[in-house]
Amino acid sequence: MSNYLHGYSKEEQDRLIHQAEMTENTIYQNVDFSDNKHVLEVGSGVGAQSEILLRRFPKIELTCIDLNESQIEVANSYLASKSYCKDRYVIKKMNAEHLEFDGYQFDGAFLCWVLEHVPSPEKVLSEVRRVLKPGSKIYVTEVMNSSFFLDPYSPHVWKYWMAFNDYQLEQAGDPFVGAKLGNVLISQGFKNVYTKVKNWHFDKRHPQHRTRFISYWKDLLLSASDILLKNNCVTEEDIAMVNKELNEVSRNPDAVFNYSFMQATAEV
Ligand SMILES: C[S@@+](CC[C@H](N)C(=O)[O-])C[C@H]1O[C@@H](n2cnc3c(N)ncnc32)[C@H](O)[C@@H]1O
Repeated sequence: MSNYLHGYSKEEQDRLIHQAEMTENTIYQNVDFSDNKHVLEVGSGVGAQSEILLRRFPKIELTCIDLNESQIEVANSYLASKSYCKDRYVIKKMNAEHLEFDGYQFDGAFLCWVLEHVPSPEKVLSEVRRVLKPGSKIYVTEVMNSSFFLDPYSPHVWKYWMAFNDYQLEQAGDPFVGAKLGNVLISQGFKNVYTKVKNWHFDKRHPQHRTRFISYWKDLLLSASDILLKNNCVTEEDIAMVNKELNEVSRNPDAVFNYSFMQATAEV
C-alpha cells in the first residue's frame, strides 16, 4: 500500500499508540468482550488497540491481522513489552478482504479505523462474518470526516482537510464510511445492528482537553502531509499555514473543537 494516506513512518507508528491512548475512554465505553475467548482484530496496525483489548479483557486470546509487515513488527515488540499480553496473541500478515481462516473460528471481532482505507468494506465484513461463529459480536469504529468543526474558522486547515479527504476517496477509501456502517453490516447479513455516534466536543469548559485534542488533530492531519505533497494535493505553504492556524486556535481561549465518529455493534 504505497499510497496509504498515513504512511508507515516511525512517527506514524508512534502516533497510533498515542491516538489509542487519547481515545480509549470514548472508544471502549461500550465495548465488552468479557464473555469472549477467541477475538479477531482486523487492521491491527502497531498493536495500539490490541494492547487495550488484552488489558481490558484478560480472558480473551487475540488474533490480529494487518497488511503491512513493518506495522506487524512494531506490534510484536510493543505487545511483547506488556506482561499481561504474554502468550495471548498472534499477529498475521493478511489482507482483510481475503481472510486465510476457515469459517466459524472466532467468537468476537474488532475493527477500528481500518474500513476507511479499504476499497470494499462490504467484502471485509463478509469475510469477518464468515469466520465468526453464530452468536458472535462485532464492534466497528469508523470516521465521519464531514463532522469536523473548528472555531475560529481556519481556511487553510479547511482546504487541507478537503485535500486529505479527496485523496482518501481517490485511493478508493472512504472518509465518511462511519455513517454507512449500519447499511453495510445489514447488507452482509449481520443481525441486531446498532450504531452510536460518539463525539468529541471541547470549548472553554474543557481547556486542557481542547488543547490536547487540537494537538492530536494536528498530528493526525500532518501524518498525511508527505503523501499529499508528493501527489501535489497541497503545497509546503499550505502545510505551514495549517501549522500556524492550528497553533493560533490552540491558544485562543474561545476556541471550539468538534468531531464525531461512529461505532457500530452487531451479531452474527
Ligand atoms: C489507521 S491504521 C489503524 C490501526 C489500528 N486499528 C489502530 O486503531 O491503531 C489502519 C491499519 O489498517 C491496515 N490495513 C489497511 N488496509 C488493510 C487490509 N486490506 N487488510 C489488512 N490491513 C489493512 C493498515 O496497514 C494499517 O495498519
